[in-house]
This record gives sequence, C-alpha cells and structure tokens, in this order.
Amino acid sequence: KTTEPTIFIIFGGTGDLTKRKIMPALYNLFLANWLPENFAIIGSSSSKMTAEKYQQELLEAVNEFSRSGKTKKEDWAKFASHIGFQDADLTNAGAFKPFGKIIEQFKREWNQTPSLIYYCAVAPHFFCTIAENISKAKLENNPETTRIIIEKPFGTDLESAKELNRKLLNIFEEKQIYRIDHYLGKEVVQNIMAFRFANSIMEPLWNRNHVEHVQISVTEQIGIGTRGKYFEGAGILRDMIQNHLLQLLCIIAMEPPTSFKANEVRDRKVDVLKAMRKIESGKIESMAVRGQYSSGWVEGEEVLGYREEENVDPNSNTETYAALKLHIDNWRWQGVPFYLRTGKRLFKSASVITIQFKEIPHNIFVSADSGVPKQNRLVISIQPDMAIRFQLQSKVPGLEMNLNTVDVVFDYADNKKSDSPEAYETLLLDAIVGDQTLFMRADQVEAAWELIMPILNYWEKNNAQNFPNYSADSWGPENAEALIAKDGYHWFSLP
Ligand code: BG6
Repeated sequence: KTTEPTIFIIFGGTGDLTKRKIMPALYNLFLANWLPENFAIIGSSSSKMTAEKYQQELLEAVNEFSRSGKTKKEDWAKFASHIGFQDADLTNAGAFKPFGKIIEQFKREWNQTPSLIYYCAVAPHFFCTIAENISKAKLENNPETTRIIIEKPFGTDLESAKELNRKLLNIFEEKQIYRIDHYLGKEVVQNIMAFRFANSIMEPLWNRNHVEHVQISVTEQIGIGTRGKYFEGAGILRDMIQNHLLQLLCIIAMEPPTSFKANEVRDRKVDVLKAMRKIESGKIESMAVRGQYSSGWVEGEEVLGYREEENVDPNSNTETYAALKLHIDNWRWQGVPFYLRTGKRLFKSASVITIQFKEIPHNIFVSADSGVPKQNRLVISIQPDMAIRFQLQSKVPGLEMNLNTVDVVFDYADNKKSDSPEAYETLLLDAIVGDQTLFMRADQVEAAWELIMPILNYWEKNNAQNFPNYSADSWGPENAEALIAKDGYHWFSLP
C-alpha cells in the first residue's frame, strides 16, 4: 500500500478496457482500502462530457463488470468524487495542455508532488502519439514519479516491437514503462513462483532428471466475436503465444532468481527465452500446427465458422488455433519438450499447465490386478478451476495391493471466487506502488517475438491448404494430436 498521492490519467477513458477492467479494478482497490487518501482519476476521450455524466457511465460499467457485484450507493459516491473528465484529441499535442493544468491544480491542493500514471487504454497505434504529445505538451514526466501503462499488442513483429520500444524510450525511461500482460497478474500464476521458490521439495525435481515433458494449454470456448478486424491482422500466435503462453513457460522454466526484485526476476525470464532452441524454417511443419475453426454447435446453439465472422475475409488464412513443440537448450531442460496449445472455439475454456514426471525406474507392482503405476503429474490449473494438484500413486484401501491415482490438492475453491483479486487489481496496485516485477520489459517482449518470427513468416508465406480444419466445440485440428503423439504422448484432458 502506498500513501503517495496519485493521479491516473486514462486515455481511452470511455473505452471497453476502461469499463470492463480498469475501473472495476480501481473500484475494488478503493473498497479494500488500497488506494491512497489523495488520488484522482481523470478519464479522457475525444467526446465532450461533464464529470457527472462520465461518473454515471462508469457506475453502470462497474455495476456490470465488477467481481464484487453491484456497488453500494455511499461507496460509489465516495469513489466517484475522485473521478474527473477531460476531453482531448489524442493526435493533437495542443489538446494535452489542460492535463498540465489539472496536474498543477492537484499539486497545489495536496501540497505534494503526486505519482502520475498515464494509462494508454487505446488502440496500439496511439501509444507513440500519446507519448510524443505528453512530451510536446511538456506534461509532468519525472522519472521517479511518472509512469506510463500500455497494453499488448506490443508491435506486430520483431521490427515493429523494437520501433515501439525505441520511440517510448526516447521519452520515458524503462523503469517508467509498465507493459501489461494480464496473465502475470492472475492469482495462480503468481503462486507458481511461491510454489517453486518457497518450497525446498520442488527444486530437486524441477529439471531434466525428473521431468518428462511439460504441457501448457490455454483453450477458449469463445469465438472471435466482434474482434474480427483486429484478429485478422493478428492470429492466435501473436494474440496468445507471443505473450501469455510464453510468459507461462518462462515462469515454469526460469532459474531461481536471487531476489524478488523486478529486474532480477525479469532477467531470469529473459534467460529462458534466449535459451529456447531456434525454430528453423525447414522444421516448422514438424514443430508447429495451426488451425482455423469452422461452424459448429456450442451448448445447443449454432455458431459461425471463423471465415463467416464479421470483418473476416471469407478466404482468410489467419489461424485461430496453434500448437507448438519447443525446446530449451540449457542444463536444466535439455531433452524435455514443452508443448503449447491455444485456440478459440474449443470444447471448453481452461488454462492449465501440466508437468509430467518420468516413470518410476522399476515397477514392483506387477500382478495383473494391481494396476501399473501411472506417472506423477503436477497440474497447475489457472482458470476457471483454480487449483494446484499433485497426482500421486496410492494403495486402494482393502486387503489387496491395488493402486490408483490420488490428488494432493491445493484448492482455491474454499475461498469464494469473488475473494480472489482480479489480475488487473494486482497489476494496477503494482503500478501505483512502482513495482515492475509482473510487467514486461522491452527485452522480454523482443525475445519472445524473435522466437516466433520464423513461424509467423512461414505461415504468412505458405497459406494453409486445409482451413478450416477443426469444428467449433472440438479440441482443435487432428494434426495437433499427431504433433504430440509422435513423441509418444497425448494432450491431457483439462479439469
Ligand atoms: C487477450 C487476448 O490477451 O487474452 C484474447 O487478446 C483472449 O483473445 C484473452 O481471449 C484471454 O484472457 P483470459 O484472461 O480471458 O484468459
């Protein structure tokens, strides 16, 4: 918690992200007493409106999207008294001047230099324009107290990501830039660090000597909905793998950091990306599978195929599913394959990491009835089910020596779902207190792009001949099964 006065200036203050995520998160932080006494939220967009009208719009949004349900009148009134509105054309530096006045006014009122957070809740092509106009309008930009938050996508390929970083770093220092990957704020994802680095029994097992392979699945039941325009230019490799799935992989594979300092943790993650085996263009067919959904039935309703969705080319070559086999060339992970899969319109939504341990070296339970001991698994279930399960072999109680698999479970179900903070609450609070541990550093973003560029290039050059190749409500294309089956494994069913 911080007592430092704080001003949030939200560009894109009337947009979807602000309404669905940012405001509910700030409101819940306020309710739980995490915000400093002196704080102000200034929303901004191109349309003119009064602060009262803006507060009313946000009230409706928070009532709809907050995990704590409908707001109480007196709580909202207190919170809303911190919210103002300033219209501005983002592309016009002159229109940024009023923010300077607002900041000065709070400085005088609070008699202190506040922390200042510029939040770019806008389409990515505005990030640089906003940064440049902050600079041109000479708005407050003290490296110690001023921060800027941006949301993925950070570029659309390695070159554009580098350019974005370069431009932002002309105006802000790296320590001021908070790049959000909301997966890093998820409760269970944060717990992986605690599980790995606060327990002495994990580390000796966490390597090539004991781990056979790792699976990371982030499956989604939803289709592309109204995001066709964005998705056509992106595809699932850019939308999910470049960021969320590779970040999960980094947390699983990283070396123990020497401290929990932001740069120390992020250095160890970058090490992982740098150790990933380069994907040679001649080997892409054997390491990467892409898919696109066709129409189908989801919970009794017929849904469109990807190519029929709004703003999607009827001959689109964009992938809505991807599965990869990756290797990490270092001492810890040599020879341990990491399988990643993610897709839209799959059979169910679940984000799960499974670590499969090696077989026992010798089986003494050989009688036909006893059952062959299964391999141990650690199943880290991020959502919707939140749990960490160790699958062990155990004797079935009774007179005979029969085995079955039992789960040793850390289950979040005892905590009501609404008690777990949302990713955005964690991340916004970290941004307020100035902790960058869970944010993406420039080199992390670039290293992730570098890894996937050969696949992106190959897929762009070679159209998929078989699209659409999986039906809505299925588990994805058949060749994704083949990708893992040829190594003798199968995709685990998801809890
Ligand atoms: C976003 C992607 O980053 O993550 C979306 O752009 C995806 O396509 C979403 O649906 C998934 O996030 P979550 O938190 O719902 O798993």
